[in-house]
Amino acid sequence: MSHNIDVSVSKRPSQGDTLVVFAAHDGKKDGPSLSKLSKEVTALVTNAGKKELFSGKKKETLFFRGVEKDGFKNVLLVGLGSAGNVDGDALKVAAASALAKLKAEKAEEACVLGASLLSGQKDAAGALQAFIEGLYLSVYEYDALKSKPKEKSKEKKSLQVVIGFDQAPNAAQKKALETASILSECQNLARRLGDTPGNYMTPTMLAEEAVKAAKGTKLKVTVWDKARIKKEGFGGLTSVSLGSAQDPRFIIMEYKGNPKSKEHIAFVGKGLTFDAGGISIKPAAGMEEMKYDMCGGAAVIAAMTAIAKLDLKVNATGYVPSTENLCGAAAMKPGDVFTARNGKTVEVFNTDAEGRLILSDALSYASEKKPKAMFDTATLTGAIMIALGNQYTGVFTRDKKLMATIQSAADQAGERVWSMPLDDFHVEDMKGTHADLCNISGNRLAGSSTAAAFLEQFVGEGISWAHFDIAGTAWNVNNRFNYHPRKGASGIIVRTFVELAKKF
Ligand code: BES
Ligand code: MN
Ligand code: ZN
Repeated sequence: MSHNIDVSVSKRPSQGDTLVVFAAHDGKKDGPSLSKLSKEVTALVTNAGKKELFSGKKKETLFFRGVEKDGFKNVLLVGLGSAGNVDGDALKVAAASALAKLKAEKAEEACVLGASLLSGQKDAAGALQAFIEGLYLSVYEYDALKSKPKEKSKEKKSLQVVIGFDQAPNAAQKKALETASILSECQNLARRLGDTPGNYMTPTMLAEEAVKAAKGTKLKVTVWDKARIKKEGFGGLTSVSLGSAQDPRFIIMEYKGNPKSKEHIAFVGKGLTFDAGGISIKPAAGMEEMKYDMCGGAAVIAAMTAIAKLDLKVNATGYVPSTENLCGAAAMKPGDVFTARNGKTVEVFNTDAEGRLILSDALSYASEKKPKAMFDTATLTGAIMIALGNQYTGVFTRDKKLMATIQSAADQAGERVWSMPLDDFHVEDMKGTHADLCNISGNRLAGSSTAAAFLEQFVGEGISWAHFDIAGTAWNVNNRFNYHPRKGASGIIVRTFVELAKKF
């Protein structure tokens, strides 16, 4: 994947085009809080603070053209947000703000003053990594399907960003650069799979993408076709696929980073490449967004790829059931009953509650391999958007210890998760009339919890499991995070899953 930005970490050059410096916001004096800047640059920033041109808050930038300081023609000043509170997310936001300003000012090269960026950071390498991720994540653009003038695109030069330190980079700094570049490349892969329209991202194509992503890594990818899926007793995936002319796929990605151990963890992702709702068809308005209904599957493919590229010492397997949900002549009908992989029967009262149906088989199958822990992610319910909006991913688990592990992984990744209820009441709501289970609840309430309770019925005894509902956070997350596209896939949960893998 090509970024149109080149990032390096090196000893600071003594001259150049634009020097990028940072200042946090000092709440007491309501102005910038400075450190690690030369006298000259300090004077520049202090002066801007006095004139109330800059106070160090998040997303603030100020460009000084032609000021000739510290050997650089221009100086770009970037706010970090409240002093003492500059976490990984704030650093990503600062990276995106800096990049946007550099682009607006048509800069071709920039030197980030490392000491100023990292001043006050306890984990300097972690902070450096977060900043670099912010750079790579914010240059992502899905423009594959826009026609472009042929010659001009060749001329497009990439922006050179050097993160400069007083000394040549140490091992930790080099590793931070490499890790950041792998993680953001994989997150950008998840975004691209999500943004690609349904006619260019069928289940077959999604499986091909998994195979392509795994090239050159230790990942072993197996793809089941329609006949195999049916033969293996995947009644849910088979039933959902009946209404579509596209064949379903079941993608398995295996990684053995710790061959001495017999244990492994499992990731399962909903790979619904287009969800029209089936016979219980969705309203027309906004239906185009349902090309994103495979973002859970994309997150699993991307996380597995990252785990392999980072060479993590863990065994992990990813599973992605993939199909379209359309209304063809053979489509499953409300009232139809199918038998899932684990033998439970399910009556389908609403064909639009299809994510849980394809996940039922995948969770059952993954459970047979007895993972130590199992995590699934899906754009499962509209209800989670009402509950949590676009910033927090809902996490459902009854395992408090696992929830604490997830919270810490998400914090490390700089992604926001929120623990949601899952209780016997919700299970009660999913009982079937003429089958073991019904795919929708008898009432409208707590739709995300009842969906999770349905999934739980396919998790093997004694396996610690958590479900991540990313329907609100997987795309169009608005402008709160400037390193995500306002419109388009965010690539959420990839980094949390990678951090989780490190914990087993
Ligand atoms: N893919 C949708 C969930 C969704 C809806 C995600 C809107 C993002 C935005 C899922 O398959 C679905 O249709 N869920 C239904 C379930 C209902 C029929 C019980 C929903 O949430 O409306
Ligand atoms: Mn649906
Ligand atoms: Zn769906």
